[in-house]
Amino acid sequence: MRNILVKGVAAGAIALLSLTACASERSQTPAGDTGASAGATGAAQGFAADSLIGVALPSKTSENWVLAGDLFTNGLKEAGFTSDVQYAGSSTTVADQQAQISAMVTKGAKVIVIGATDAAQLSTQAEAAKAAGATVIAYDRLIKNTDAVDYYIAYDNFKVGQLQGQALLDGMKAKKADGPYTIELFSGSSDDNNSAVFFDGAMDVLKPKIDDGTVVVGSGQTDVKQTATDGWKAENAQRRMDSLLTSTYGSKALDGVLSPNDTLARAIITSVKGAGKDLPVVTGQDSEVESVKSIVAGEQYSTINKDTRELVKQTIQMAKDLQAGKQPQVNDTKSYNNGVKVVPSYLLEPLIVTKENVVEAYANDPKLAPLTKE
Ligand code: BGC
Repeated sequence: MRNILVKGVAAGAIALLSLTACASERSQTPAGDTGASAGATGAAQGFAADSLIGVALPSKTSENWVLAGDLFTNGLKEAGFTSDVQYAGSSTTVADQQAQISAMVTKGAKVIVIGATDAAQLSTQAEAAKAAGATVIAYDRLIKNTDAVDYYIAYDNFKVGQLQGQALLDGMKAKKADGPYTIELFSGSSDDNNSAVFFDGAMDVLKPKIDDGTVVVGSGQTDVKQTATDGWKAENAQRRMDSLLTSTYGSKALDGVLSPNDTLARAIITSVKGAGKDLPVVTGQDSEVESVKSIVAGEQYSTINKDTRELVKQTIQMAKDLQAGKQPQVNDTKSYNNGVKVVPSYLLEPLIVTKENVVEAYANDPKLAPLTKE
């Protein structure tokens, strides 16, 4: 299904049928399940236990990336590997990341883990890595238009979008029993493959409500291009919200805003507060410290818990398996098409968090648990 959406030819009944099929496939394969590794590419040969593992992360656009870098550095060391963990800078992100990956290939990295800064601009580097015998793992964000990606590991991002769309509807219904509800839609940076996946997942839930008139997008801006937030930057979301408030919400109420992550959710809330309007229901993602506090305080409505500790742990497990000459475990070989192939994936299950379940959701997180005690 996502292959259909990624290729941008989702249409009518066919897409709907595939959506249903995929949803049931997914629910039969819970994350963490010992799924089959059929379809995995790159026959593993094994390599020296202290080999170099490269990790190329995007710029630090949210707390999860900061955390991932530390966890990879420590976890790879603990596993006995030599590591090289790099971040793209904040302005020349694409060129930085391309150079970092090339340097990892030159240094003989056996596995290169990539959180792509631009999904469509890494095929040359991924192909060079493969040619040098490295295994390429796309981490959290898919790399597009190349067959040189061996594995994809992420929380199920389409599911993240669906959870956000549903939370938006639930939150608005809790405040006002009946529609119509007026909303605005925000999406992430268009160079990140996840942005469209989150948006498509949310629209899978929201579109039927828009079509039947229960939900109205006040500005009429429903296309992912119109709603994009360049570079995932807070200031860009705040600017767009400011201008929507001026153009569309003079005296009109705004019931909800679909925000793809926490950084943007807080920028949207700041903008609405600045305009002196009542706070709408605002979604988010990433379980960032300030957003968890905001949920506890009753401002931001929801976030998503994609525990970075688990994602990094599973990625390091993939490297360990490859080192030992084993095929890493995958649990999805259907959903994530990068334009050239369906990339064998290990998908983890994201969790929606609202004020209602915030205590349980972070009970095992030493950083966030204390914030949930009122
Ligand atoms: C990640 C999100 C994050 C965003 C901005 C996405 O690719 O999946 O968790 O909020 O990047 O950093």
